Amino acid sequence: MQLIIKNGHILDPGNIDGTGDIIVDDGVISAVKRNAAPGAQAEKKSDVRVIDATGWVVVPGLIDMHVHLRDPGQEYKESIETGLRAAVAGGFTAVCCMPNTCPVNDNRQITEYIIHTAEKCHLARVYPVGTISRGLAGKELSDYGELKAAGAIAVSDDGMPVADSQLMRRALEYAGGVGLKVISHCEDPYLSDGAMNEGAMATRMGLAGIPNAAESIIVMRELALAELTGIPVHIAHVSTRQSVHAIRDAKQRGVPATAETAPHYFTLTEQAVGEYDTRAKMNPPLRSEKDRAAVRRGLSDGVLDVIATDHAPHSILEKEVEFDRAANGIIGLETALSLGLRLVTEKVLSLEGLIEKMAKNPARILGLTREITPGAPANLTLIDPDALYTYDAEKGFSKSSNSPFHGWEMKGRAAMTVVDGCVVYEQN
Ligand code: DOR
Ligand code: ZN
Repeated sequence: MQLIIKNGHILDPGNIDGTGDIIVDDGVISAVKRNAAPGAQAEKKSDVRVIDATGWVVVPGLIDMHVHLRDPGQEYKESIETGLRAAVAGGFTAVCCMPNTCPVNDNRQITEYIIHTAEKCHLARVYPVGTISRGLAGKELSDYGELKAAGAIAVSDDGMPVADSQLMRRALEYAGGVGLKVISHCEDPYLSDGAMNEGAMATRMGLAGIPNAAESIIVMRELALAELTGIPVHIAHVSTRQSVHAIRDAKQRGVPATAETAPHYFTLTEQAVGEYDTRAKMNPPLRSEKDRAAVRRGLSDGVLDVIATDHAPHSILEKEVEFDRAANGIIGLETALSLGLRLVTEKVLSLEGLIEKMAKNPARILGLTREITPGAPANLTLIDPDALYTYDAEKGFSKSSNSPFHGWEMKGRAAMTVVDGCVVYEQN
C-alpha cells in the first residue's frame, strides 16, 4: 500500500519546513520531496492513494501523554475504542492512558488487555501507564519490571496523590532502573480538600477552595527528589504560577525534569466555573488570571515542555449534580489542537513551538520517534489551519460530553490522521 501526500506544508521542527510531497510505502516514509514539481510521481504502484494536502500543514503525528480511557471498568464513560476515535479525530496518533481504571492498571493482565484491545481498533497507538503504587493505595510500589515487560511506558498514580515522599523516591529509583518514566500528579492531599480554586470567588460561591500550594508543594518535592536521585520526573497538568516558577528554577540548575500543562489551564480561569458549571470542574482546578498568564509564559519560554489533554470523560450521572459533589475532569481530545492553534494566533507559540509541545517533546520524553524523514514510521497529522467550526461536545466521538468548550467558535483542526501509514481519520 502506497500513500502520496502531495503539496502540503511539511513542518517537522528542526528538520524540515517547506512545501513538498511525502511518499509512504507499507507504513514507512520512503521519500520526502521538497518543492516537488506538480505531477511528479513516485515509482508507480498498483495500490496507491494520493492525498492533495494543498493548504494543509503536515506535521509529525501528535502524541497525548495524558488520557483517561476508562476501560476496563467504566465503559459507560468511555471505551478504548471511543476514546481512540476521539483521539484520531483530534489529530492524535498516540496516547498514554492513565491507570485509574477499574481494576487499576498495576499489573501485566490489565496492561496487556489495553494494548490488545487498542490494537484491534486500528486507530491511534496506545501506550499504557501503570500505577506507581499497588491499587493506587500509596503504600507499596507496583511491580515495575512486570509492567515494563507487559508494555507499559510509564508509571503514575494520576488522580491520587503520592503522599509518602519515601515511596516517591523509591518509585523514581526503581522506575529509572527498568526504563519507565514517572509522571507525577502533584497534589498535597492534606491541602486539597476543596471544589475549586481558593480565593474570593470560591468564598462568594460558598465552596471550599484548593490553594495553589496544594500543587506547588508537591511539584517542589518532586523536583527535589529528581535532584536527589538524578532520575527525571515528569510533572503532570501544571496549573499554578508557583509550579511554573519552581520548574523554571530547577531546570536552570540542571535538575532532570519535564512538565506538561493542559489546554484548559492556558485558556480558562476560575471564572469559567461561573454559575456552578460542573463542566469547568477538574483537578487541579482552573486558577486565576495570574496563573493562566504564568502557564502561557511557561509554554513560550520552554519551562513547560508538553501540552497534554488530561481527557477525563464522565457521564451526566457524575456531572449533573451539586458542584461540590461532581466528579473532576473534562474531555479534551477533540479540542486540544484547536485550542493550541489559538496560542499560535495569539503569538504565545509559533506553529513549530506548538508541534514541539504536542508531538516532538512527548516523543522525546517517552523515547518514541516522530520524524518526517525517510525510514521513519508514517505517523502524521494533517492540519487544516483555516477550518472554521463550532465545537459541539454532544456530536463528538467521545462517549462523554463534559467540556467547557461546548459551543466555542474554533479555527483550525485535524483534517486527516495517519498512523503507521494508514489513514485512520479524515475530516469531511
Ligand atoms: O480532573 C481530573 N480528572 N483530574 C485527575 O487527576 C483525574 C481525572 C479523572 O480521572 O477523572
Ligand atoms: Zn492528574
